[in-house]
Amino acid sequence: MQTIQIYQLKDFVGQEVKLRGWVRNWRKQSSKLRFVVLRDGTGEVQCVAHKPDMGEEAFEAVKALSIETSLEVWGTVGRHPRREGVFEIALKRVVPMQVAVDYPIGKKEHGPDFLLGQRHLWLRSSRQWAQLRIRHTVYSAIEGFLNGQGFIRFDSPILTPSSCEDTTTLFEVPYFDMGSAYLSQSGQLYLEAGIMSLRRVYDFGPVFRAEKSKTRKHLTEFWMMDAEAAFVEHEENMQIQEDLIRHIIRTVLERCATELETLERDTDTLRRADAPFPRWTHRQAIDYLKSKGCDIDYSDDFGAAEEEMLTAESDTPVFIERWPAEIKAFYMRRDPESPGLALCSDLLAPEGFGEIIGGSERETDHDELQSRMKSLGMPMDEYQWYLDLRKYGSVPHSGFGIGLERTVGWMAGSRHVRECIPFPRMISRVTP
Ligand code: 4AD
Ligand code: MG
Repeated sequence: MQTIQIYQLKDFVGQEVKLRGWVRNWRKQSSKLRFVVLRDGTGEVQCVAHKPDMGEEAFEAVKALSIETSLEVWGTVGRHPRREGVFEIALKRVVPMQVAVDYPIGKKEHGPDFLLGQRHLWLRSSRQWAQLRIRHTVYSAIEGFLNGQGFIRFDSPILTPSSCEDTTTLFEVPYFDMGSAYLSQSGQLYLEAGIMSLRRVYDFGPVFRAEKSKTRKHLTEFWMMDAEAAFVEHEENMQIQEDLIRHIIRTVLERCATELETLERDTDTLRRADAPFPRWTHRQAIDYLKSKGCDIDYSDDFGAAEEEMLTAESDTPVFIERWPAEIKAFYMRRDPESPGLALCSDLLAPEGFGEIIGGSERETDHDELQSRMKSLGMPMDEYQWYLDLRKYGSVPHSGFGIGLERTVGWMAGSRHVRECIPFPRMISRVTP
C-alpha cells in the first residue's frame, strides 16, 4: 500500500492508501458514524469512520481523536457523493503519533491579539494555510518573471552603514568598535552598484523600518523585492512593473484555485485587474481628489483614504507618476521638462489595497546628486561609494521595489498584512 499526500488523492480513487497528518476537526454523526477532517499540509480531506466497516476496536481509536492530534490513517479513496473534484477516505484504521490535549484555538471567535499570541499554532488554520501558500506563489511568480527578463539575483546587505529611504525609520544595532550599523530599509542603492556589473539585478529579502505606523498595511519587518536595470528610463520602468504584476495575477489564478476558494476571494475581480494600468500624474491625482471634495494640496502625499478614492473606479492598479521632488527620495531623477518633479511612480492596487510598488528613474549626474545630498545634510563620507557610480561610466537607470506582504494581501483579499507573513513584526509585537 502506498503512502500518499492529500494533493495526490485524485490519482488513487478506489485504492487503499496511507496518509499522515493532523486532525483538523471531527464530528459525530451517530453512534456508528464519525467524520474526521485530516489535513496534511498539502490539503484537507474528510475521512469517514463507519463502525460496521471498521470494527469495534478501530472505531474506538477514531473516537479518541482530538483536534490537532498527529496521526497515520489507512483507508480507501473515494469520490465525494455530491461535490465534484472532492475526495473522501473510507477509514480502515487510525494510529495517533502524538495526542494533542486542549488545543487552544477552538471553534469560537478569537480576537486578533489572542490569535497573534498563538501565531505558532494559528498558522495551521485553513485561512492562514491558504494565505501562506499564496505568498509562496507570489514569491515564485516574481522570481520567474525576473529570471525570464534577464535579471540576475544580487543579494544586498542587511547590515548597512546608512539609510536608503529615510533616516527617521532606521533600526540601529551596535556594531563592534565601529559604533552603530542599521538594518536595511531597501537594497536599492547597492543594486545600483550591481547593475554596472550585471546590467539587470534584483534582491529579495527582509527589510526593516522603524515606522510608528499602526495601520493594516505596515510591518516593521517586511519582504521586498527590489529590481534595478541599466539603460531603462522612467516609462519602461513602469512597463516592467505592469508586466510583472499582470504575471503575478495570472500565476496566482492558475496555481492557487483551492487557496482562493478557501479564502472566498472574488476571482473575477482579480481577473479584471489583468489589463493595461492607467497612468496619472500626481497633479492629475490631486485635481481628481479636489474634485471629489478632498482637502489636499499639490505638495501632499496620500493617506489610505485618498489611495482608496484614486483606485475606486479602476479594475486595475493605477500608477501615480511624477511627484513633487521635495516629498520623494533624494536619489530620484528630476523631470527635465519640469525640474520640480521627480521621475517616479507609485503603483496603487485596486480594491483599497494601497501602494504595492514604489519606483523611479535614478539621478545619473554626479554634481547634481552631490549638491542635492549636501543640501539635505547627508553624511557624504558614507555615500562616497554611491557617488562613485556617477563618476565611472554613469548610465540612465531605473528600478522599483515591490512589497511582498501587500501584494499577497491584495491577491488573497486579506485586509491586514499581518496575516501575509509567517511571524509578523509590528510596533507592538515581536513575539512569538
Ligand atoms: O516605496 P518604498 O519605500 O520604496 C523603496 O524602498 C525603494 N527604495 C524601492 C526601489 O526603488 N527599489 O517601498 C517599496 C514597497 C512599497 O510600495 C510597499 O509595498 C512596501 O514596500 N512597504 C511596506 N510593506 C509593509 N510594511 C511597511 N512598513 C512598508 N513600507 C513599504
Ligand atoms: Mg513608497
